Amino acid sequence: MNEPNKIPVHIAVIMDGNGRWARLRGKERYEGHLAGMDALRETVKNAADYGVKYLTVYAFSTENWGRPQQEVDALMDLMCKGVEMETPQLMEQGVRVLVIGDRSRFSDKVRAALDRIEEQTGRGERMTLALALNYSSRSELTAAARILARRVAAGEIAAAEITEQTIAETLFTSAMPDPDLVIRTSGECRLSNFMLWQASYSELYFTETLWPDFGKEEFLKAMEAYAARDRRYGLVK
Ligand code: IPE
Ligand code: IPE
Ligand code: MG
Repeated sequence: MNEPNKIPVHIAVIMDGNGRWARLRGKERYEGHLAGMDALRETVKNAADYGVKYLTVYAFSTENWGRPQQEVDALMDLMCKGVEMETPQLMEQGVRVLVIGDRSRFSDKVRAALDRIEEQTGRGERMTLALALNYSSRSELTAAARILARRVAAGEIAAAEITEQTIAETLFTSAMPDPDLVIRTSGECRLSNFMLWQASYSELYFTETLWPDFGKEEFLKAMEAYAARDRRYGLVK
């Protein structure tokens, strides 16, 4: 194993199952999110150690605003505290944080925390950690369509000059290659509005494990599964 071409350059994770993890233990949902932070910290370390260059994590979807206010508030609070607590270690590890998603809907406090972590970790070169926050693929593609339409209307580009590359460059993920592997925990086999464009040729990996239980063993199991995949991209080998 560990052949360079078998190590995914970019892994995207749909971190799901925090609420069920908490319920199974008779705890409040926010305690599941707290435990999910620990799993995220560990996965960042595992991915960086393994040689992964980009790790994107789906942490809050545009649909998640519809959850009970108490849970949304707890998640916002956790974002601020998480940024505060994790920044030094991320800097030490050489992990650069990038936020993808529409941050205009967040409070000034959350936005300031996100700006801060991006700025303070900006020189990290070992791995990029993209936090998908208030992210959804459809809103991302809709925003991109608006941006390109405005550029056409302004005469900056011709409609015929819009290519797959132009679209990719207009998405939040423009600075990253497409994910090689998308992992979803908790046994749900769906993408829930995540990376619909970028995951066109990603390998998908679903595990029953709830996100707070996703440790090193689980991570390595996913890497092993990925290494055994045969990626054909529509061609004949
Ligand atoms: C994922 O865990 C975290 C977020 C969506 C913020 P969930 O909160 O969705 O946990 P389940 O799916 O209810 O168990
Ligand atoms: C997807 O999980 C979003 C995140 C992990 C942030 P959800 O729990 O919100 O998705 P559904 O409701 O199961 O599709
Ligand atoms: Mg869920």
